[in-house]
Amino acid sequence: MSPRPPVVIAPSLLAADFGRLADEVRRVEDASADWLHLDIMDGHFVDNISFGPAVVAMIAGHTKLPLDVHLMIQHPDHYVPRFVEAGATTITVHVEPEAKHDVAQTLAMIRSAGCRAGLALNPATPFDALESHLPLIDLLLVMTVHPGFGGQAFRPEMMEKLRRANAWKDSNEPALDIEVDGGINAETAALCVANGANVLVAGTSIFRAPSYPTAIAAIRGQ
Ligand code: DX5
Ligand code: ZN
Repeated sequence: MSPRPPVVIAPSLLAADFGRLADEVRRVEDASADWLHLDIMDGHFVDNISFGPAVVAMIAGHTKLPLDVHLMIQHPDHYVPRFVEAGATTITVHVEPEAKHDVAQTLAMIRSAGCRAGLALNPATPFDALESHLPLIDLLLVMTVHPGFGGQAFRPEMMEKLRRANAWKDSNEPALDIEVDGGINAETAALCVANGANVLVAGTSIFRAPSYPTAIAAIRGQ
């Protein structure tokens, strides 16, 4: 197999031990994580509740890594300023109508606040749903599980969306990040990279592994 292009590894803190979050952040940073992925859930857009801007700000105080904030919430436009203030680097919102916002306006708001803008699509959402927004984003997040909970099985049928995203990236915006989230481990990471992903989010396969450096290196394909 030819050598893999460099990829970004973004551990999802949803699978970390919340009782010692600062220590978990330090451990993945020491294990050569590239970004931290922060899953924000409101109990409405998804059937789970995680944490909010105050915890993001606390995490920002413990790391130099970019903070990749994934908003699985309704009315994300209302909360964007608080996540900007908390120290987000990238803010990703969902394209589905259930997120209840004007997608183009929210993306513009994120960029004008100086953050990178991301757009996510759920497994059930077709690629066409976000095609018109592609010129407005820095990162496209293809969910490889239904959002809400860590530890679910990866859905290989999402690879078609990655190929379409990658084709658009090749001809329009080579700097676009294509991210996958859900069920990522060393094996599924290789499949996603082969289909065009360059940012890999992983929760369970890092935080439940005996060694974080070994787990991250394996996902990186080393
Ligand atoms: C799912 C979240 C994911 C999740 C990934 O709703 O967006 O980031 O934590 O976790 P694993 O890697 O355990 O599938
Ligand atoms: Zn996520």
